Amino acid sequence: MSTNVVTFTIDGVEVKSAPDKTIIQAADDAGIYIPRLCYLKDLPPGGHCRVCTVKVNGRPVNSCTYPVAEGIVVENDTEELNSFRRNIIEMLFVEGNHFCPSCEVAGKCELQALAYRLGLLTPQMPYLYAQKELDATHPDVYLDRNRCVLCGRCVRASIHLDKKNVFGFENRGINMRISVNSNDGLKDTDLTKDDKAMSVCPTGCLVVKRQGYLTPVGKRLYDKKPIGSEIETKTVKS
Ligand code: SF4
Ligand code: SF4
Ligand code: FES
Repeated sequence: MSTNVVTFTIDGVEVKSAPDKTIIQAADDAGIYIPRLCYLKDLPPGGHCRVCTVKVNGRPVNSCTYPVAEGIVVENDTEELNSFRRNIIEMLFVEGNHFCPSCEVAGKCELQALAYRLGLLTPQMPYLYAQKELDATHPDVYLDRNRCVLCGRCVRASIHLDKKNVFGFENRGINMRISVNSNDGLKDTDLTKDDKAMSVCPTGCLVVKRQGYLTPVGKRLYDKKPIGSEIETKTVKS
């Protein structure tokens, strides 16, 4: 018999959800925060970053792509999973070139906020100091690959929300990078500063020029409250 509601638990809390939701969607609706980096509510899931990993009946899965099901037992806020997430965040820091104190998105950056929330201190892995290309050709925006975490949000937003196809991925493994659909950089694409693709970047990789410090440091989103609080405070858990 089909049902319109499935019931399951996340860290022992009973959650009810429509059967067509993913675990992260159901958790959000229930006011339970599952850390994430590439997932964004209005975009199709990318499944790239693995930060949203939870255990379902003891098995690790991406909560942004895994569907809810009756009776599943989901583990989320455990030291084992948070340690795994911390390692991913640490790898992203050492693979890129992140200098938060001088970065214009410090305080509103999801990577930085996740590091704080997960308790990442000085990375134990060696920094790679990779050479990454910056594209400042566009009059209104720039792309600083030093801060790119390859989440693919810009790729999906440009396709699905802006109905363009400005961004993509090129190369593989450690050489993978975000590409644009022009040989001469962003200036020859149809990207505008108002594109949704510009607002979904979780870091300071895609930035609108001349707007860097409109909100002063100290008064930005994650200066006031940790990442995830917007979900944890919106709904009372059952
Ligand atoms: S993009 Fe985020 S993590 Fe990277 S330097 Fe800027 S604030 Fe720090
Ligand atoms: S440019 Fe931003 S949105 Fe695009 S892949 Fe890099 S970090 Fe993600
Ligand atoms: S948020 Fe699920 S894989 Fe990135």
